Order: sequence, then structure tokens, then C-alpha cells
Amino acid sequence: MADTTTMPTGRSSARPFDPPAELSKLREKRPLSRLEYPDGHLGWLATSHALVREVLADRRFSVRAELRHLPVGAPAQQPRPAPPGTFSAADPPEHTRYRRLLTGQFTVRRMRQLADHIKAITDEYLDAMERHGSPADLVEVLAKPVPAQVICELLGVPFAERDQFQDHAYALFRLDSGPEELGAAYTAVHEFVRGLVTAKRSAPGDDLLSGLTASDLTDEELVNIGFTLLGAGLDTTANMLALGTFALLAHPDQLAALRAGESTVDQAIEELLRYLSIVPFTVRVALEDVELGGALIKAGETVTVSLAAADRDPGKFPHPDALDLGRPTAGHVAFGHGIHQCLGQQLARVELQVVLPALVNRFPSLRLAVPSEDVPLRTDMLIYGVHHLPVAWDR
Ligand code: HEM
Repeated sequence: MADTTTMPTGRSSARPFDPPAELSKLREKRPLSRLEYPDGHLGWLATSHALVREVLADRRFSVRAELRHLPVGAPAQQPRPAPPGTFSAADPPEHTRYRRLLTGQFTVRRMRQLADHIKAITDEYLDAMERHGSPADLVEVLAKPVPAQVICELLGVPFAERDQFQDHAYALFRLDSGPEELGAAYTAVHEFVRGLVTAKRSAPGDDLLSGLTASDLTDEELVNIGFTLLGAGLDTTANMLALGTFALLAHPDQLAALRAGESTVDQAIEELLRYLSIVPFTVRVALEDVELGGALIKAGETVTVSLAAADRDPGKFPHPDALDLGRPTAGHVAFGHGIHQCLGQQLARVELQVVLPALVNRFPSLRLAVPSEDVPLRTDMLIYGVHHLPVAWDR
């Protein structure tokens, strides 16, 4: 079909922070394009900020796993409904019920307590980085372990079991895992969370899972909620930390402004979130015929919304391809938009606000240990970032 595209995924190592260039061209030419999915489905791709927000705010679009087609990767064998408790793949009223229970657990008090822990955890890992010595892979020494420890705090994983938990959880995101290994990792994490739920039921603590056991949720639901939080909160924050560091090191003027306090930390983190939009897209399915951007989306058609393209829309953010830590960023969609907007966004913000300034201030001479083009980019994963970030510093 004329004017049909496949999902652009190519990134260039010369411009590692930019979304695939093809997306900008599409946004200029036709911000709602026909998109051919790997399984043969003919759906849509939205690339402008306005259309992306419109789709995400419209209840006539569903997020259910069994309805959607994915724009990249091997076609799913048999799309199946997500198990109970997987609220990220549920529509209202199911979604509303879970989300309400969870929002009640993401309290200001708990986030504040976590912020204190995050400071302590960060210092611990920065000390370890210093002991390790230059050069080091920032992904391994800081970006992966800090979010993992924070999720452990949130879910109430006992200290003695944290290494075991981290190993299982990260096995899920390993690239070199085959389907069997991946299956084994899923089972291991599920079993781990199941054990945790049982423990919290008999001896509740001050953590989120314990808090949820007081509701009428079944064990199955609790396990899947724990699993959803892990899936959504671990790899995202880790990649934002590593890619955020890379972006700062590649923009010395911006890094200097941050160190000098010329832009506030809060502002700087929002701009990094916008600029990097590490969750490049999400998908929705029309439950009925919907008119959108002058086109008719038919019931059952999947719309891929490009969060990365929306956050680089010049109609919304002037000079969108420049990293400008002082710019206004209100309305960015790095955390999505609408009812599924990131549940963990405050937590993610606190992690980024604590870790990134602590890192760049602790190591004033921090720099890449390899040429920028040699940093391995995660062009092959759903969440963008870097596989490794070799950094060096002077003693
Ligand atoms: C910088 C880090 C993060 C980024 C960029 C990010 C991004 C996103 C985005 C774009 C969505 C919306 C997906 C959609 O509409 O389909 C989302 C949803 C979600 N995120 Fe995050 N996230 C981050 C960190 C976290 C953390 C730390 C947690 C939990 C501890 C978390 C938990 C969730 C959950 C549970 C959802 C689903 C919400 C729902 O469906 O109601 N995220 N996130």
C-alpha cells in the first residue's frame, strides 16, 4: 500500500540520543501514518505531540494485551490476556480498581522515606565505585544496582535475599537469554515474589506489598502486581541513569551548568527525560471506530504512539533536538499520558534527582573511557539506553 511504513528503529551512533531520523520526517509529512506490523496487521503510527496525547487520553483506546499488535520484534504466537493484577495491561474498570489501591500505597510518606534510603544507597554504590577504581562500567557499578535496591525497599525484600532477587530480575532483561532461559527467569521471579507475598501475609512490614495484603487482593493478583512493578521500574530507571550520564558527558556545557547550579536539578532531570524518552513508544487498540487527525481508525486497529517523536515535536518544544537543561518541559510524555501514566514517576524522579548530581559532583573529572561511537546502544531492546557505559576519572 502506498504511504505505508514499517516502524523506524535505526539509530545512529553519531547521534546516539536522537530517535530514528525517519520519525521526524513522518511527523512533518503525515503525523498519523499507516503502519505495517511484523505479524501483517495494518495499523497506525502517531508521531506528533498532539496526536500522541490525544490517543493516550481517549478511553475508546484499549491497552489490553490480547488485542494489540506490536510494531517491532517477532510476531507473538498467540496474544493472550495478561494475568489478573497486571494492571498496566488492563482497561477500566479493572485498571481503576488496581490503580486506586496502588496509588494509596505510593504515599508521600513512603516516597519521602524512600528518598532517604535512595541517598544512603547511592552513597554506598558511589563508595564502591571509588574503591573499584577508574575505569568502570557505570551500568554495572551504579545504574543497575541502585534501582534494584530501591525496588527491594519498596517491595520489602529482606536484605539477605537481595542478591538472589537482583540476579533473577536482571536475567529477565538479558539480551542473550534464549526463550528457555527467559521462561526460567520468569518462573524464578514469580516464585520469588510469591514467597514474598506469603511472608508478608504472615508477618506484614512497612512496605508496599505488606500494605496491599490488607486489601482484598488474591495472592495471584499480588504476585502479578509485584511482577508488574519490577518489569516497569527496574530497567527503565537503570537506563535513564546510564543514558542520562552519557548525555551529560556528551554535553559538557550543560553538565557545567548543572554543576554550577545554573539550572535546577528538577528542571535538568525533566529535560533529560524529555530529550531521551527511553520508552520510545507504547501501543493502544481502538475499541470502536475513532476519528483521529482527519483519519478513521477502525475498531480493532492498533495505533503505535511514538513518545520519542512526540517529545521532539518542534511544534511543542522549540529546537527539540538540543539538550537544554534550563528549558520549560511541561507536557513531555516520557512517562506517558492519561490513565496509564507512569505510576512510579515520582519515585523515578527522586532516584534521578539524587543519583545523577551525586555522581557528577563526586567525580568532577568523570569522562567516557571509550570514544562516544563505541558505546554499545540498546537499539535492539524495547527500552532504549546503553548496554555498557565505560567511564574514567582522575584520582
Ligand atoms: C525513568 C524511569 C521511568 C520511565 C521513563 C517510565 C515510563 C513509563 C511510561 C512511558 C509508562 C506508560 C506506558 C503506557 O502508557 O503504555 C509507564 C507506566 C508505568 N510505570 Fe513507569 N517509568 C519509569 C519508572 C518507573 C518506576 C520506578 C516504576 C515503579 C516503581 C514504574 C511503574 C510503572 C507502572 C506500574 C506503569 C503502568 C501504569 C498503569 O498502567 O496504570 N515506572 N512508565
